[in-house]
Parts: sequence; C-alpha cells; structure tokens
Amino acid sequence: MPSTPPEGEPAPADGLLPASAAEGSGERDFGVYIHVPYCRVRCGYCDFNTYTASELGGGASQAGYAAQLRRELAFGADALRRSGAADRAASTVFFGGGTPTLLPASDLAAMLAGVREEWGIAPGAEVTTEANPDSVDARYLRELAEAGFTRVSFGMQSAVPHVLATLDRTHAPERVPLVVRWAREAGLQVSLDLIYGTPGESPGDWQRSLDAALACEPDHLSAYALIVEPGTKLAARIRRGEVAEPDDDLHAEMYEAADAALAAAGLEWYEISNWSRSLETRSRHNLAYWRGADWWGAGPGAHSHVGGVRWWNVKHPRAYADRIEAGASPALAREVLSAETRRTERVLLETRIAEGLPIPVLAPEERRAIPASSPTASSTGGSRSPAPPAPPASETGASCPPCAGACWRTPWCTAYSPDGTLPGVCRVSCVCFPGASLPGARFLGA
Ligand SMILES: C[S@@+](CC[C@H](N)C(=O)[O-])C[C@H]1O[C@@H](n2cnc3c(N)ncnc32)[C@H](O)[C@@H]1O
Ligand code: SF4
Repeated sequence: MPSTPPEGEPAPADGLLPASAAEGSGERDFGVYIHVPYCRVRCGYCDFNTYTASELGGGASQAGYAAQLRRELAFGADALRRSGAADRAASTVFFGGGTPTLLPASDLAAMLAGVREEWGIAPGAEVTTEANPDSVDARYLRELAEAGFTRVSFGMQSAVPHVLATLDRTHAPERVPLVVRWAREAGLQVSLDLIYGTPGESPGDWQRSLDAALACEPDHLSAYALIVEPGTKLAARIRRGEVAEPDDDLHAEMYEAADAALAAAGLEWYEISNWSRSLETRSRHNLAYWRGADWWGAGPGAHSHVGGVRWWNVKHPRAYADRIEAGASPALAREVLSAETRRTERVLLETRIAEGLPIPVLAPEERRAIPASSPTASSTGGSRSPAPPAPPASETGASCPPCAGACWRTPWCTAYSPDGTLPGVCRVSCVCFPGASLPGARFLGA
C-alpha cells in the first residue's frame, strides 16, 4: 500500500512558480525524474507509489502511460518557461518506480524522447532506469542503450533464495549475473541494489549476497537496511509474530561487513548507502538531489524541486490521467521552503555524502557545539584536524566576509583588506570555502 502524501499549500493549476524559484536557475543543474507506477507483484516490504494490475482495478491503463507522461513533460517545460526559469538541458534523467521496465522499451524511449524535445539532454548526460531482473532481456537492454540510456540499476536485493522468498522477490538469483552481462554488452553502466537485515538473514547469508554482487563487477552498488514500512505486508507479518523484527545491532554489523567487502573490491563509499567504482560512476542524479539541485519529477506521486519550491503530484494513476487529460497541472500541493528550512535540509542532506557539509553552513554556535574530539575542517566529511577552541573575541576576523569571525582555521583569520594593502597580508584560500581566494586575508602568526 503506497504511503499518504505530505501536506502543503494548494498548487496552482497553471503550474506557475513563485518568482523566487527562477532566481539563479541558470547557475543550477537541472534533472528530470520519471516515475512509472507499475509492478507485476508487490514485494511485501515496499510502500512505493506503485500498483499491480489487481491494485489498479479499473484504474489507468499502462498502454496510455507514455503519452500521458509526455504531456506532463510538455506542460512542465512550458510552466518553467512561463515562471522565468532559465532554459536548461537535462544533465541527468532517472526512470524510477515501480518497475519502469515493465513497460515496453519503446515506451521508455518515447518518454526519453519527450525530455529531449522539451528541454534537451545535455552532452554526456546520465540517463538511468531502474529494472527488476526478471523484467528485461538482452534485446530490451540494447533498445534502451540505442534510445540514449547510459545506465541501469537492477533490484538484486539478495543472492540467497530464502531471503528473496521472505522479501517476496520473484527473480531467481542466477538471473542477476545474466542481466548484468547483457547490460554491459549493450554498453550500459550497471548498478545493483541490495537489502540487508531481512528477517532470517544471517551474517553469512549477507556475505554471500555481497560476494555474488561483487562477482558481477558492478560500476555502482546501493545497500539499503530493510525498513519496515507501516501498512506493508511485512509489517503485518512482524506484528503477527510470523517473522522477527529487524535487529539494529545486526544491521550495524551487516553495514560494516558491506563497507569492508566493497572497499576491498575497489568500490568507494560516497553516500550513506552508496558505493561507486569511480567518481564518474557515482549516481549524478541522486547527488543532485542531495545537493539541492533543480529537477522536474513527472508521473503519479512524483516530487519536484526548483529553487526552494517543492511540489508533488497526485498519487493515483487514474487521478493523474484525469488531470493530464484536462490539461491541468498534476501537482497536488506544494511548499515554498523558508531560508531556514533550506539550510536545515542542506545540513541533513550534505552530511550524508562523503564530501560532507561546508562548515560555514552551520551557525557559529552550531560549529562550537561540535565536540573538540570530533574531526573538523572545511567540511563535515573528508580528513579533518582537531577542532580549535573558540578564538578570543579580539582576534576573530570580524571583517572576513564569508567567515564573519567564526573561522575554524588556526591561526585565526584576523583581517580582510579588499585591496590587499595591509602589511603582512597573505593571499590564501579559505579552508571554510574551499576554492574561494580571499585576497588580503591575514592570519595571526602566518
Ligand atoms: C523502485 S525499486 C527498484 C526497481 C524494481 N522495482 C525492483 O525492485 O527491482 C527501488 C529500490 O528500493 C529499495 N527498497 C524499496 N523498499 C525498501 C524498504 N522497505 N527497505 C529497504 N529498501 C527498500 C529496494 O532495494 C529497491 O531495489
Ligand atoms: S518490484 Fe520494486 S517497486 Fe515493485 S514492489 Fe518490489 S521493490 Fe517495490
């Protein structure tokens, strides 16, 4: 059962955004998310906005879906233009679900052609689809590559039959190396999704799944702790005592085992649940979410974000089809984020990624709340030196523009001279704002 949507203010039927959304849009990356809300079978743990044929009942048909989606893309490009946003080609496109590959490859190609027509696709763009291993074959994957897809993300989940059975997965473990090989032969990058902490899964089972995934030599791997979502079949089974509740300590042990095995195989950790073969094979689309970029999310229940305005579509495919057929925005509601909410979300999202959060995003009192024993530097990630005590008021660089007296650097930045004429001035790169050259910044003792 899909979860209930968040609350927000009504979204206008013409899709017009407040002027603030367009400000600076030319400087921001733009991506497109396309949601495909269909699955053949619902996995017992999943509360995504997806529908099996029986759950849809008399709802919207899959056959008309690509055409409806293309109408939303046309509506979206027009709404952004009318709202004054810069014309930007999509640097990433992501088809998620649901199971996008339940539709014919020609439908996915048609929706991608819609993105190309309405916004353009930037040279070197990343174009991904999620896929269930038993929903594709070699020919299907070739068609995707020919249509412009560059990457496929398979829901592998586990290599152990009893774990797959508890998760209600329908594919056989042997299917995964096969589809990975076909994807490679088609020229697609490959990512695999694994789930750990399934009831009944032992550390040995988990290691077997990791080994099987690594034997496929994926370019990218996501490992998710099993979340027991309210309202799912799995939650009901746990409530009835049929299967055990996932154990937090076992989750932690499995996470550490994953990190060790993946690092040993040359996959570098770059986000809480994600590892990549190289910088180039990281999921650029997901990184754009974590960095607060702009994206249009099309399809039932899809979320969008442009310049601090977030909105989400009606969830049911029938309600979505009705809105699209009436030429109205499929958005159910939206919220205009305040500066403080945007900052809080930035803290929450950027602390997930390996590069961390630039320390100056935190208010001075928040920075000082970081325990002295915790590593600090230009960001909350990366290699860091011990936190210094707060500098004496007389020595803080109150006029250092970005740091405003709260610089973590020792010796402290004490002065800023725009013309660089202060005696003893050095030209430095600020450690709080990597890459920002601060001509005239002077450091005590430097
Ligand atoms: C849309 S599915 C991927 C494509 C396809 N539908 C499939 O399952 O093979 C996205 C991924 O979310 C993860 N996922 C979904 N529900 C989850 C849950 N309750 N706990 C942990 N991971 C979950 C699974 O790893 C799944 O592969
Ligand atoms: S196939 Fe994927 S989207 Fe569909 S129910 Fe299973 S996990 Fe959810």
